[in-house]
Amino acid sequence: MKLTTAGESHGKALVAIIEGLPAHLKIDKEAIDRALALRQSGFGRGGRQKIECDKVEILTGVRNRETLGSPVTLCIYNKDFAHWADCMSAEECDETRMAEKCLTKVRPGHADLTGIRKFDQTDARNILERASARETAIRVAAGEVYRQYLSVFGVEIGGYVKEVCGVKDGGRYAFNDLLRAKSTSLGMLDLEVEKQAIEKVSQLKKEGDTAGGVVEIRVKGLKSGFGNVMTYAEKLDAQLAQGLMSIQAVKGVEVGAGFAVCETSGKAVHDEIFYSEEKDFYRISNRAGGIEGGMSNGEEIVLRVAMKPIPTLMNGLQTVDYSTKEKAVAASERSDVCAIFALEVIAEAVVAEVLANAVAKRLGGDTIQEMQERYNRLP
Ligand SMILES: Cc1cc2nc3c(=O)[nH]c(=O)nc-3n(C[C@H](O)[C@H](O)[C@H](O)COP(=O)(O)O)c2cc1C
Repeated sequence: MKLTTAGESHGKALVAIIEGLPAHLKIDKEAIDRALALRQSGFGRGGRQKIECDKVEILTGVRNRETLGSPVTLCIYNKDFAHWADCMSAEECDETRMAEKCLTKVRPGHADLTGIRKFDQTDARNILERASARETAIRVAAGEVYRQYLSVFGVEIGGYVKEVCGVKDGGRYAFNDLLRAKSTSLGMLDLEVEKQAIEKVSQLKKEGDTAGGVVEIRVKGLKSGFGNVMTYAEKLDAQLAQGLMSIQAVKGVEVGAGFAVCETSGKAVHDEIFYSEEKDFYRISNRAGGIEGGMSNGEEIVLRVAMKPIPTLMNGLQTVDYSTKEKAVAASERSDVCAIFALEVIAEAVVAEVLANAVAKRLGGDTIQEMQERYNRLP
């Protein structure tokens, strides 16, 4: 399957085309809208979320709430387009106004400076419009389609926020506990820890500063053998890391025990294998995080994703004005202070995309029923 996204942050719309979905997959539009609403939630978000109220429009590939096997096009219209339209229409575009709207006090940690130079621009808005995490709205919409596809095979994805700017939740949770995270303020499961995290974010906001954090994503119900040990590019952990690292502000991905595997010996790291007629092959630990040799091993897939603090600071960092080359304070405008709740929702969507592709690659099929039969025959 292939996913293409297009659209600027303040452009008319965001669009996704998914090619390769089988026919007869039931599509629940309301569930896509619920995922979009979740992406807009969470303590610490900025003013943009009050303007937008994201709803998906399905433009192609679906009839009577089922896929046809043709490309599926999803679309989300931007309400904030009016803002940007000023700069776009030839009649209204006067040079003084354009200059006022120019972003030249390039922000450290954002794509502004490198993007301006690479694309020979003078206004970083021509870069940030695409660099912006607004793009993730359409990836969440597509991710929800992939989630609906995976649910046919009994695969479920959940997650929660584990850390916000150094405030950590050290708890261990059963998969079913993860559902609760979507109804808390910051997506955390330990409400005492979340209270401290909210205080931390509020304090940072007062100081004109920002926060990042860590989310944990878990996948239940995927049988063994998805991903491919034979081809490096098809290794499941490699593809998950690539997908997750493509999310704005993500700076690290851990699988299973992650970096902690380096702190101890093989005996304490690898998951011993057992067999019983009733359970087939099984493990009593899951430090591998459900992936061995680039293939799912049938255990829960466990991933942690690290997000850096938001780069737009109200109390801007030192920079250089690109147009004058003079020392300046970096641009600061409407922005999130902490978007870790949204990151969790986006990371689930990206994981759904990667896993759906791994399933499609192994099972093939023109109809979802054909694929389901093949999946059911797997050990
Ligand atoms: C959900 C989400 C919301 C974000 N909101 C903002 C924001 O309001 N302001 C900002 O400067 N960066 C925000 N970012 C981060 C930037 O988009 C990102 O840091 C920037 O595009 C540079 O990319 P990089 O951090 O991957 O290098 C957000 C990221 C995510 C995932």
